Amino acid sequence: MSIEKDIADILIGAEELQAKIAELGRQISEDYRGQNPLLICLLRGAVVFLSDLIRAIDIPLEMDFMAISSYGASTESSGVVRLVMDLKSNIMGRNVLIVEDIVDSGRTLAYILDNLQTRRPADIKVCALLSKPSRREVQVELDYLGFEIPDKFVVGYGLDYAEAYRNLPFIGVLKPELYK
Ligand code: IMP
Ligand code: MG
Repeated sequence: MSIEKDIADILIGAEELQAKIAELGRQISEDYRGQNPLLICLLRGAVVFLSDLIRAIDIPLEMDFMAISSYGASTESSGVVRLVMDLKSNIMGRNVLIVEDIVDSGRTLAYILDNLQTRRPADIKVCALLSKPSRREVQVELDYLGFEIPDKFVVGYGLDYAEAYRNLPFIGVLKPELYK
């Protein structure tokens, strides 16, 4: 049976996502032309976004991965951020672009920005697909943003609820009885 049966509402459809990513890719290609940016993907949620985004960018780039954990299986952040997997690359002197799925409280991003700044990159910018501004507890600057969304727990396009639904091609909200 399809996982789509669990979705109550589609917030951002597949075509709308792809159109926005094409736009972000064009902007990033323009801004980083002549550089060789290092895109840092935050695992696991941003992996779907990264894979479409890099194909919308037409300049040389490299990518690396980092895993941070702040959630258990619930929809509320524990507030404690932990580095679970570090980068392979040395980022000193590099033009770093962090690729994140969603910025909620801002704690994950603030932690990563602090952590990466100590490694002395040339600069660090952030590209987030989604942002929930009404939930912000820590102010973080988003240089590139796909969509602002209301305070709803969303799934799909890389985002999970208890590790499920990452493979939906759109961003949606689950039927309320499924959230525990
Ligand atoms: P923050 O540290 O509170 O900004 O939370 C950021 C992380 O929480 C994201 O990287 C996601 O993994 C997760 N997250 C926040 N909101 C959602 C959501 O609506 N759906 C799925 N994951 C979310
Ligand atoms: Mg995440």
